[in-house]
Amino acid sequence: MKLSAATEFPDMMMRSIVVLIFIAFLAITSAVKIKIDGTHQPKNGGVTAATAFQIGTGIYDITGPAAETGMMGYAMPGQVTGGIHFRLRARAFVFIDANGNRAVYVSTDSCMIFQAVKLEVIQLLQAQFGEDMYSADNVLLSGTHTHSGPGGYSMYALYGITTLGFYKEHFNAICNGIVQAIVQAHNSVQPANMFAQQDELWNTNINRSPTAYLNNPASERAQYDADVDKNITVIRFEDQSGNPFAALSFFAVHCTSMNNTNHLISGDNKGYASYIWEKSVNGNSTLPGKGPFIAAFGQSNEGDVSPNTMGAKCPDGTPCDAPDSTCNGKNEGCIAHGPGKNMFESTQIIGTNQYEKASAMFETASIPITGAVQYRHTYLPMTNVTVNPPFSSSNTSATTCRAAMGYSFAAGTTDGPGAFDFTQGDNNTNGNPFWNFISRFIAVPTEEQKQCQSPKPILIDVGMTQPLPWTPDVIPIQIVAIGNLILCAVPGEFTTMSGRRLRNAVRDTIAAGIENPIVLVAGLANTYSGYIATFEEFEVQRYEGASTIFGPHTLGAYIQGFVEMAQSIVDKTEFPAGPTPRNMTGHTFFLLPPVVYDEAPGSKFGAVYRDVQSSYSIGEVVSVIFYGGNPRNNYMTESTFLTVDLKNSDGSWTTILVDGDWDTRMYWNMHDLAQSLFTIEWNVEANYLPGTYRITHSGYAKESVFSDKLTPYSGQSSEFTITA
Ligand SMILES: *[C@@H]1O[C@H](CO)[C@@H](O)[C@H](O)[C@H]1NC(C)=O
Ligand SMILES: *[C@@H]1O[C@H](CO)[C@@H](O)[C@H](O)[C@H]1NC(C)=O
Ligand SMILES: *[C@@H]1O[C@H](CO)[C@@H](O)[C@H](O)[C@H]1NC(C)=O
Ligand SMILES: *[C@@H]1O[C@H](CO)[C@@H](O)[C@H](O)[C@H]1NC(C)=O
Ligand SMILES: *[C@@H]1O[C@H](CO)[C@@H](O)[C@H](O)[C@H]1NC(C)=O
Ligand SMILES: *[C@@H]1O[C@H](CO)[C@@H](O)[C@H](O)[C@H]1NC(C)=O
Ligand SMILES: *[C@@H]1O[C@H](CO)[C@@H](O)[C@H](O)[C@H]1NC(C)=O
Repeated sequence: MKLSAATEFPDMMMRSIVVLIFIAFLAITSAVKIKIDGTHQPKNGGVTAATAFQIGTGIYDITGPAAETGMMGYAMPGQVTGGIHFRLRARAFVFIDANGNRAVYVSTDSCMIFQAVKLEVIQLLQAQFGEDMYSADNVLLSGTHTHSGPGGYSMYALYGITTLGFYKEHFNAICNGIVQAIVQAHNSVQPANMFAQQDELWNTNINRSPTAYLNNPASERAQYDADVDKNITVIRFEDQSGNPFAALSFFAVHCTSMNNTNHLISGDNKGYASYIWEKSVNGNSTLPGKGPFIAAFGQSNEGDVSPNTMGAKCPDGTPCDAPDSTCNGKNEGCIAHGPGKNMFESTQIIGTNQYEKASAMFETASIPITGAVQYRHTYLPMTNVTVNPPFSSSNTSATTCRAAMGYSFAAGTTDGPGAFDFTQGDNNTNGNPFWNFISRFIAVPTEEQKQCQSPKPILIDVGMTQPLPWTPDVIPIQIVAIGNLILCAVPGEFTTMSGRRLRNAVRDTIAAGIENPIVLVAGLANTYSGYIATFEEFEVQRYEGASTIFGPHTLGAYIQGFVEMAQSIVDKTEFPAGPTPRNMTGHTFFLLPPVVYDEAPGSKFGAVYRDVQSSYSIGEVVSVIFYGGNPRNNYMTESTFLTVDLKNSDGSWTTILVDGDWDTRMYWNMHDLAQSLFTIEWNVEANYLPGTYRITHSGYAKESVFSDKLTPYSGQSSEFTITA
């Protein structure tokens, strides 16, 4: 029977609400400096030379709603946005080869790219540039996996549950920001060269499921010096005169340095690495996101890789029970920390490590990237792919399964433990009666499904929900080759060993057509479909295995597809497009109420609620509180909710910091039902000049319940001095 959207909608919404309430219940009960441009010697001695490519770059704000919006990553109801630490950006690269073939890579400071985002971005690009220039095939969108950005931009229910559904305005802001970054890149193409450098970066990532990793064959593990990839790759972009204008780095580590108690929007460790590198090159007088130099820190195979390098410990400081990451049988206490004394310092340290290593490698990057721009893209019907040897982990062929989440999914990870009463590695299908009820309410797994997913005990049969699955099932895979730089765009979180197997398989195949290929995994790209653990890791059913939704042969199916695409590049053949993904437009719900109205005493939006002191010394934190309007009214995209201004000798003001800067924090909270309070802090580090300063706040207020009209406002603190 074919149901119309109108009848599907209430049913799906009702089920979602029930699940939402249970999840909310669980949440409540659970305890829970290197100067680049001046000093570098151009490789060719400054002589204008033939270049391998035309390359353009772009950067644009994708920050989104800074209030009341569920944050994406920890699936933690109650972790909603309440301000901004620093802004989120999309960083785009357009590559064109000598024959005019082009491809696009975008790294976004977002948790992941959802299918709807990719489809929408392509539609917007085609509306602007026609259908031949940019398509799903030659545009690669990747997320850095920050867990401190607002969510609600997935049209599929599972990834919208803790964000109360699909937030259209936010989705539009992300898609538009990505498109604007690509348009900038499109318009700035210039003759350019690329040079690569590969090295290792230690003390910056650890494996958070080492017992699952250990289930991979010993002979395979013996080929590597660690249970996470220490490899880091940097690409240096130079113009025709040998001057660098951009950097792109890949290193596998979760952006979970900020933990699930954080409410400030933040790019986490990779966002910080980009921020600090761009600032060091563009100079202090260039505001963040505005300078010409762009440094993107792309995500890779980070599935089982944590930045919390002190590892997981119980509250009393003792190590957790390794196989299931519990303390006295409970998972909530087992939390990974470090290396900093708090999450802000940890973010800064892990970000600085990536920045310092990458920028040092950048100086000596010398492996030339040359050749054609090529790409292959296909959609796989992941509910039922036949996986043949040698990709099937046995002598016979195997198949993938309809999507399902295992019990360990609900346990969360040591970067952010989930609801109580679940432990990783649990194989007990008679587990929690409560969750059994929920999962049965959504869909009862069939015997066939249980067998297909074995040994995963099924908690939520997300692929069997009616009338629509809760997760996507037609999944894109893509290879973008910029000469000998080969980017494998993977639709989720590949674990360390999954990424190594993929890279090796693609390298072995593509080397027949492309010399010295540098094969990299571009993670969380184009569509999100959970984790991708190896067959052996799946057996162990920790969080990553439980979240490998298409069953034990998920990785095999992807590697098989990637190898076929690599072969097609070697053979110079066309590659089948595969089935068309479902269009989810019109099948979404959203339960977060809109901003009803804003109130401020005497309607004085921007008025000071608590003023600054008259004087601060270096090392102190300046703080002021303003009345304002809900930041959801206007995201202040490419602008700022705050400025820190320095008074010049002629009495004029120069803005030195905005809400995109690391040293400022903006906390938002609701006061007296409809009043928005903005607490703005400036951490006066040693590098600021003594002088007279002020802090300003700007935003938009919705002054009437009966009108959608938004009124811009701004206000400022009293002047204050900074003394040495
Ligand atoms: C999805 O459907 C909507 C209307 O239902 C349409 O406007 C949109 O263009 C479609 N998207 C794609 C990618 O086809
Ligand atoms: C990691 O980098 C080293 C060089 O530092 C290289 O020998 C090794 O092959 C790389 N490993 C992977 C998995 O790419
Ligand atoms: C820029 O800021 C850095 C620290 O953030 C400081 O060390 C440096 O002196 C500043 N440079 C200029 C030109 O103001
Ligand atoms: C998060 O980090 C803060 C320090 O910044 C720490 O106090 C808190 O315990 C951490 N919480 C979790 C759940 O990791
Ligand atoms: C999977 O595909 C095969 C053909 O490739 C078909 O025979 C089988 O019925 C399909 N199974 C499901 C569950 O759709
Ligand atoms: C695969 O088949 C070969 C020969 O048919 C056999 O020797 C080998 O044991 C089989 N391997 C597995 C994993 O079944
Ligand atoms: C569950 O795990 C226990 C101990 O780890 C093991 O003895 C048992 O065979 C497993 N059961 C299933 C159904 O896999």
